[in-house]
Amino acid sequence: MHCILVTGGAGFIGLNFVKMLLRKHPEVKVVNLDALTYAGNLASLEDCMDNPMHCFVHGNILDKELVSFVIRRHCVEGVLNFAAESHVDRSIDAPRIFFETNVMGTLNLLECARECGVRRFLQVSTDEVYGSLGKEGAFSEDSPVKPNSPYSASKAAADHLVHSFYHTFGMDCVITRCSNNYGPYQFPEKMIPLCISNICKGIGIPVYGDGLHVRDWLYVEDHCVALWKVFNEADGGEVFNIGGCNERPNIETVKTLLSLLEADESLITFVKDRPGHDRRYAIDASKIMTQLGWRPSVCFEEGLAKTVKWYLDNQPWLEGIATGSYRKIKPPAFEDCRGSSADSG
Ligand SMILES: NC(=O)c1ccc[n+]([C@@H]2O[C@H](COP(=O)([O-])OP(=O)(O)OC[C@H]3O[C@@H](n4cnc5c(N)ncnc54)[C@H](O)[C@@H]3O)[C@@H](O)[C@H]2O)c1
Repeated sequence: MHCILVTGGAGFIGLNFVKMLLRKHPEVKVVNLDALTYAGNLASLEDCMDNPMHCFVHGNILDKELVSFVIRRHCVEGVLNFAAESHVDRSIDAPRIFFETNVMGTLNLLECARECGVRRFLQVSTDEVYGSLGKEGAFSEDSPVKPNSPYSASKAAADHLVHSFYHTFGMDCVITRCSNNYGPYQFPEKMIPLCISNICKGIGIPVYGDGLHVRDWLYVEDHCVALWKVFNEADGGEVFNIGGCNERPNIETVKTLLSLLEADESLITFVKDRPGHDRRYAIDASKIMTQLGWRPSVCFEEGLAKTVKWYLDNQPWLEGIATGSYRKIKPPAFEDCRGSSADSG
């Protein structure tokens, strides 16, 4: 495809995806639509802003007129929807925005993509739609969808919508469900960057409950490679799980980070468990491995070490978030994007 629309490409996974594409597939033009909520950070995209194959558009996926305009103006052939409210704790405090963005936003994108004749739509979803596991087993693509948090319920609803557009309208849609990601540029409200940031400042690391909740971690770049593979190679209507085969109790991950940063375990502070906290996630990713030949390439120990190094080397990025200065970076004027897109089709 010559031109794709990435939504949420100023957030953690979306921006890693945009950077990967500009690096590895310079023939593909990326239109990056992001509302720049607290989770969107233009500082992370600094090195992409002058790239003629990247066009940043500041806008909301709920804005139908804008989305249709952008798709038509840039002759967008495919959409990858990363845009979402993504933090479970926030969904417990204020669920409504999760449904507005994650459900109505996805519906809006689907309608625009369909009306504008977009060839393929990829929905970036999560393993959290499956709910929680006991001690054994792993989620397969056929596992029942049983979300437990407002966040995962909104993502599950969006998945159902995407499937309905495939089934009812014959729209070429695919869904990916990935386990927990970590790596550079993750907002420091999420577990791994929060730990790194607190350890660096010598302040307590909050660990929910007994710390024995199990997560299956995947290095973000491996997720991005998988997404591009599914986008290009999967049959329409398919769902693909993406996982790292890296199950770890949270407390173990925290202790590994403490040891990487040569800090003391006394920083661990157990706090009251999150309501409805899913106990264990594990992904059976054999479908994407056998059908599309994808495999994670970065093991957890290597990925964590790279991630710690990235945060240590990029303290100004973290400080920009701590002080709020990242929210003052001005997005490019929309006209600039329109100008630079003249020959994109
Ligand atoms: N982080 C993970 O571990 C993980 C795992 C599996 C799946 N996912 C999914 O991957 C996607 C990206 O996750 P992330 O961790 O990068 O999230 P993030 O919170 O870091 O980024 C979300 C981005 O979406 C943008 N956004 C929010 N509302 C918008 C709107 N209405 N219109 C346009 N843009 C909007 C934000 O500004 C931000 O840049 C999400 O759909 C999430 O559900 C995340």
